[in-house]
Amino acid sequence: MKKIGILFGQENTFPQAFVDRVNEKAVDGITAEFVQINQVEQHVATDYAVIIDRISQDVPFYRAYLKNAALMGTAVINNPFWWSADEKFFNNALAVRLGVPVPKTLLLPSKARPDDTTERSFRNLSMMDWEAAFAHIGFPAYMKPHSGGGWKSVYKLHGPEDFFRAYDETNQLVMLFQESVEFTDYFRCYCIGGKEVLIMPYEPRNEPHLRYATEMKTTGEAGEKLLATMKDYVLKLNQGLGYDFNTVEFAVRDGIPIAIDFGNPAPDADLNSVGQANFEWVVEAAANMAIERAQAQVPGQDNLTWGTFVHPTAAKAAAGVAPKQAPQAKSKAAPKATGSVKVGAPVHETNDLGATGAPKASAKKAAGAVKPEPPTGEVPTGGKAPAARKAAPKKKA
Ligand SMILES: Nc1ncnc2c1ncn2[C@@H]1O[C@H](COP(=O)(O)OP(=O)(O)O)[C@@H](O)[C@H]1O
Ligand SMILES: [Mg+2]
Repeated sequence: MKKIGILFGQENTFPQAFVDRVNEKAVDGITAEFVQINQVEQHVATDYAVIIDRISQDVPFYRAYLKNAALMGTAVINNPFWWSADEKFFNNALAVRLGVPVPKTLLLPSKARPDDTTERSFRNLSMMDWEAAFAHIGFPAYMKPHSGGGWKSVYKLHGPEDFFRAYDETNQLVMLFQESVEFTDYFRCYCIGGKEVLIMPYEPRNEPHLRYATEMKTTGEAGEKLLATMKDYVLKLNQGLGYDFNTVEFAVRDGIPIAIDFGNPAPDADLNSVGQANFEWVVEAAANMAIERAQAQVPGQDNLTWGTFVHPTAAKAAAGVAPKQAPQAKSKAAPKATGSVKVGAPVHETNDLGATGAPKASAKKAAGAVKPEPPTGEVPTGGKAPAARKAAPKKKA
């Protein structure tokens, strides 16, 4: 008998529906249950062939438990090593490599110094050329944590004053400074098993409980083309990143879907936010994927999914071959893009269980604000409003 377990936090609808769905299918030799954890000891296997992880982003103890489980042969979904390693900046860079459009993005050093560092820790870092950064990214723009979620510390900025006011609040967070995509359509897409895709129209400007209560605005042939392009991009991103269970968001500008947020390995799957039809799709696709993975799982071996970015390099290194850059190389472990695509149903129910919070409203402009020199404890990025700084050579676009 192979067991599938689900590890979860505060959510109430998806875990039970998932377990029931797997068990209702009555596949020979497969059962599902809530994961039970008692004593966790190094190099001791769990009872589970497959674990669906919905919560280790919030519980470091679970993340460590899952890595040990993976070493011992559990197919952990999503790969806990990759999940520990990736963040939005790398993901964006990989998207560019994969040919998926993303907003222009810069990585900013944290405003405040990390604990236990001094200014001597930053001798490699020159002062930021803010004017060049603003000229390259433009306004409106977004500033958001390079590794974050739940819309926390996400700022929409309308000019340099907004920028510096927001940056001042970010303390030790490492932030992205990103072009704002002013969109006509917005979508949230589930991708399960690297092959099944559900495209859900989503309106991020609505209150959380109404974000799925919207319809696609692009129609006719353009609409068909847009759906096909998004499906292609969703598959490319998930196969590149090696996520088995993820959502990808797109903002559509001039007919082009631009990927905004695509590392959501424990995406909201609550019945009350995604609605009945989307929920049904996710439960069914997740149950089928977990069963497939349990059947394929070989005890004691690596049963994780690795992205095409990581896998070819790792395989070559193991074979003693110097790793070459081969981003598009097909890996045996990469799931095949043979699955279906479905457009999600709009949701009209109202409730309070959607995504947490909303992006902070951009601060009002304060005329003539000039930043003081960084006080002790700040990374020496320079904080003056551009007008007060010497013009610097423009960076190449
Ligand atoms: N570059 C951008 N252009 C347009 N909207 C954006 C951009 N970045 C973020 N947003 C908006 O802010 C929301 C939260 O940002 P996101 O990157 O998804 O952060 P989180 O991981 O916290 O959910 C998105 O759903 C989107 O509505
Ligand atoms: Mg998001």
